[in-house]
Amino acid sequence: MEEIKIFAPATVANLSCGFDVLGCCLQNVGDEMLLKKNDLNQLRITKITGADLPMEINKNVAGVAILAFLDRLGSKQGFDIEIHKKIRSGSGIGSSAASSAGAVYAVNKLLDDPFTNNELIEFAMQGELLASGNAHADNVAPALLGGFSLVRSYAPLEILALPAPSEIRMVVLHPMIEIKTRDSRAIIKQNVTLASAIAQWGNLGAFVSALYTNDYKLMGRSLHDAIVEPVRSILIPYFDELKKLALDNGALGFGISGSGPSVFAMCQGDSAAEEVKSAYLNFLQDKEMGFELHVSEINKTGIRIL
Ligand code: HSE
Repeated sequence: MEEIKIFAPATVANLSCGFDVLGCCLQNVGDEMLLKKNDLNQLRITKITGADLPMEINKNVAGVAILAFLDRLGSKQGFDIEIHKKIRSGSGIGSSAASSAGAVYAVNKLLDDPFTNNELIEFAMQGELLASGNAHADNVAPALLGGFSLVRSYAPLEILALPAPSEIRMVVLHPMIEIKTRDSRAIIKQNVTLASAIAQWGNLGAFVSALYTNDYKLMGRSLHDAIVEPVRSILIPYFDELKKLALDNGALGFGISGSGPSVFAMCQGDSAAEEVKSAYLNFLQDKEMGFELHVSEINKTGIRIL
């Protein structure tokens, strides 16, 4: 194969109870990338549409992810890279992760799969390191594996693919402000109380259990964040109102998507998702805030070839 076109999906990280360790993959929101082998032993970003991002390889998240991949493989193969961004940067739905994960997925395919998708996560994390100053895996893992992912450990890296109950719908609202992950990480407190840690690991364990038993109500009860949400939600317009609207209109749970400003409402089934969507539209119609609204199933396969 000399060239490949792929769809690199958006993702929702943290999911309230799993800061930096839990994430899921969305179905119909994502970027497109086109990668071609070249004979120049050179990595070149030849085109970027939809966003103003660096074309220099070592300043671009896709570039550094591919460099980490080629370095481990000991390969000097060159590639020309086109990135067509549909996911806005600073939106909180894994824009940098889609580029990083998409890039390593594509070069892996063009070189006949020397690595598994799970092994690619570590290279894609280099893109996250460049973008946010922290190599978190909770967006790149679900982008590469699909469904829900859990980071059991960062050192050594161990990532588990979790099941995706088919009735889950994610209503993701993106208020049109940009919050850089680097900035929203800087405001988080570095220490947690034992009481909030107990609440958090109880919820995370229960959420994972609920994914295996299709217990939607338990998923909802587990979507709480006593640690990060109280700090980050201050940056998000109408956070409390949106949370109340989602829960009053039947959402299973509600939280910040990744580092925000997007927020998600997890719902069971299409009609529940539509109710939350209409309640949001109704609420936002007389507000001055621009926004995007996505309703998505969980994408069970992750990045795909177009
Ligand atoms: N876990 C990361 C954070 C995800 O919340 O900073 C960023 O999308």
